[in-house]
Amino acid sequence: MTDRVVLAYSGGLDTSVAIGWIGAETGAEVVALAVDVGQGGEDLEVIRQRALTCGAVESVVVDAREEFARAFVAPAIRANALYMDRYPLISSLSRPVIVRHLVEAARTFGAGAIAHGCTGKGNDQVRFEVGVMALAPELKVLAPVRDSGMTRDKAIAFADERGLPIDVTARSPYSIDQNLWGRTAECGVLEDPWAQPPEDVFVYTADPTLARDPDEVTIGFVDGLPVSLDGRALPLPELVAELNTRAGAQGVGRIDLIEDRLVGIKSREIYECPAAITLLTAHRDLEDLTLERDLARFKRGVDQRWAELVYDGLWYSPLRAALDAFVDDASVRVSGDVRIRLAGGVAQVVGRRSEASLYDHALATYDAGDQFDQRDARGFIDLWGLPSKVWAAREQRLAR
Ligand code: ARG
Repeated sequence: MTDRVVLAYSGGLDTSVAIGWIGAETGAEVVALAVDVGQGGEDLEVIRQRALTCGAVESVVVDAREEFARAFVAPAIRANALYMDRYPLISSLSRPVIVRHLVEAARTFGAGAIAHGCTGKGNDQVRFEVGVMALAPELKVLAPVRDSGMTRDKAIAFADERGLPIDVTARSPYSIDQNLWGRTAECGVLEDPWAQPPEDVFVYTADPTLARDPDEVTIGFVDGLPVSLDGRALPLPELVAELNTRAGAQGVGRIDLIEDRLVGIKSREIYECPAAITLLTAHRDLEDLTLERDLARFKRGVDQRWAELVYDGLWYSPLRAALDAFVDDASVRVSGDVRIRLAGGVAQVVGRRSEASLYDHALATYDAGDQFDQRDARGFIDLWGLPSKVWAAREQRLAR
C-alpha cells in the first residue's frame, strides 16, 4: 500500500474522521488539502488547523477562486452550460479544479494515492476518480465512506473516541455543497419530491415572494464573457460575487430539480445560483443578437453536449477540449451590453445592444425606412416549398 495519501478535505465530520480512519486502515500518512472555490463559510485557516489536530501530517489550503472563475466558470458561461436545461453545474465545475490541486499536491508531497469522502451514490465520486485517472493514471484512489464502511454513526463514534474537534450538532439537516457559482442542497425532507423545500434550505437567495424594490443591472460582455456591471469593469470572481448578492436579494436563481444522476438514480436537488442564472440568461440573449443563425443553431447542440460531459465527470477529456475550441471560436463576436431586471425571483432581459449586432433595423422594421424587398419573398417560398409540392402531388396521384 501507498505511504502517503492526499485527502480532499472540507473540514466537516466525514473528511475529518477520514484522516484517522485512513491512517488506521492503511498505515498511510494523510496530507489534507482544502481548496477555496469561493464557498465562503468557515475560515480556511481554522479548517487547515483542524486537519492537523485530526492527525494530518501536512495540511494545505489553496486559494483557487481566480482559477475556478477563469478556467471553469468562464467556459461554462460561453457554453451556456445547463444540465437538463436547468442546472448550472455548480459541483460539477468545482470537482475538476479540486482534482487538479489534489494531483499537484500528490506530486509535491510524494503521495501515491488521493482520497475523497464521497458516498457511492453520487456523481462527485466519479468526477474525482475519473479526473485523477485522466491527470495522473498512476495514482490510486481511496474512498473510505464508500469502500470501508465509514458510516455516519461510525464516524461520530470514531470522532468521540479520539476526541476530534468536530461539532456534530452543527451539521445541517441537508447535504450541502457550495462555491462561487452557487449552492446545492439535498437529503432530509428534500427527499420527498412532493414536499415544498422549507425556507431554511436557502442561503444565497431571499424569498422571491417578499416584496422589495426591483433591481436592474447592465452586464457588459466581451467575447462571450462578462467584464462589467453597470459600466464598472470587474474581474470575474468579483463580478459573480456581486451578482450573487444583488440577484440573490431578489430571489433569483432558485431551482428545484428532479435530476438524472450519472449512477442511474433520480434525485431531488435544490439549487441556488443567482449570479449563474442572471449571467447565463444575459449571455444567451446576447448570442441571439450576435450569432449568425446556423452557428447559433449548431452551438445549442454543442452547449448541451458540453454540459453533459462536464456533469458526467469528463472535464479532462479530449472531447471537452475540442468542444471548447469550437465554443471559444463562436464567442468572438459575442460582445455588448445586456440590461436585466431582477425582481420577484426572475432575471428578465429588458434590453440589449452590441457593435457586433446582426439585428438590422432597416430589414426588421414595418415602419418607414424598410429596405427589405418583399417581392423577393415570393420566389424564395416557391423554391423552398418545391419539395413539399412535388411530394404532395405524388401522394395525391397514388391515393386510393
Ligand atoms: N447533484 C449535483 C451534482 O451532481 C450536486 C452534488 C452536490 N454534491 C455534494 N457532495 N453534496 O453536481
